[in-house]
Amino acid sequence: MRIRGLRQCFVGNSVLPRLPLIWHRTPVHELPSLAKKLGRKRLWIKRDDLITFGFGGNKIRGLEFLVGDALSREADTLITGAGPLSNHVRATAAVAAKCGMRAAIIYWGKETPQISGNFQLVRMLGAETWFTGSLDRSSVDVHMKSMAEQLTRNGAKPYVIPRGGASPLGVVGHVLAVQELLKQFARRTSMPEVIVLPVGSGGTMAGWLLGTSYYKAPWRIEGITVSRPAYEVQAQVLQLICDTERLLDIRSDVTKHSVVIHDGHIGPGYGCPSAEGSAAICLAAVEEGVFLDPVYTGKALAGLVELCATERLMDAKAVLFLHTGGQPGLFVPGQYP
Ligand SMILES: Cc1ncc(COP(=O)(O)O)c(C=O)c1O
Repeated sequence: MRIRGLRQCFVGNSVLPRLPLIWHRTPVHELPSLAKKLGRKRLWIKRDDLITFGFGGNKIRGLEFLVGDALSREADTLITGAGPLSNHVRATAAVAAKCGMRAAIIYWGKETPQISGNFQLVRMLGAETWFTGSLDRSSVDVHMKSMAEQLTRNGAKPYVIPRGGASPLGVVGHVLAVQELLKQFARRTSMPEVIVLPVGSGGTMAGWLLGTSYYKAPWRIEGITVSRPAYEVQAQVLQLICDTERLLDIRSDVTKHSVVIHDGHIGPGYGCPSAEGSAAICLAAVEEGVFLDPVYTGKALAGLVELCATERLMDAKAVLFLHTGGQPGLFVPGQYP
């Protein structure tokens, strides 16, 4: 294996192996035109899309710990899976390539002749890809398990990263993002009252909620689900928080009531562009020169636009929007506005 570079990282009351992939705090800047449009005094954006490694995005934060764990166990192959538009898969394939590991990728559905966006990048990174043939997303889990068994029988050392990197180790990266943001606001006179972010598997929101509680940050977190009904992902977020507390040997005051996730922005389906999401992408581009993506952040901004017109955000004059990346999705035919 070419790269070790593992560090020991203290988080909570635990020490975890971490492979550094993020070398700078991601920028935070204001969106004054958009703030005006949304009737907010201040609107900031945190640019996790500008993480420099592997086309960036929130998934890199979790991978620092997931791949840290894989390397500490001397794994030589990363197995993961999702749909062919997945940012998580692209990020995993990039880490595997950097570390000289094999990447075995399981996609749900059938292979299409169209090779674009993240799927194109995954191919470019040299990952090996398989399709389950089923549109059931959980078919990926079954195939990942049998792939790991087969590789082990052949003498390899596979490490399975769950879909979306949604596991306690993946959550830890987002807990630390809260610490990072607190440092960025340490010398500013005003702070966000609410942070709005897109929710898929729930790992990112779990980390932000846990970090907010653990570091006693003054803001609340509100998620916009883009993948499954809010009640379903809320249960997943709570479970992830519980498991991560155990991993880090910490306690938080997060309850069911603090996991606020808004429905109504999935549009025609996960991964399918919605009219509101496309309008939000154009709004951010035209007003601020910031490009969002069609699967996550466009729909999340559409959610924020709607929330700003309701009682829910009446009290919040200072809001921060988390840009979690995903722009390769803009280059998939049929995905852009
Ligand atoms: C760009 C982007 N934003 C947001 C998310 C949602 O993150 P999570 O799955 O942790 O909820 C994802 C998940 O793949 C993503 O790729």
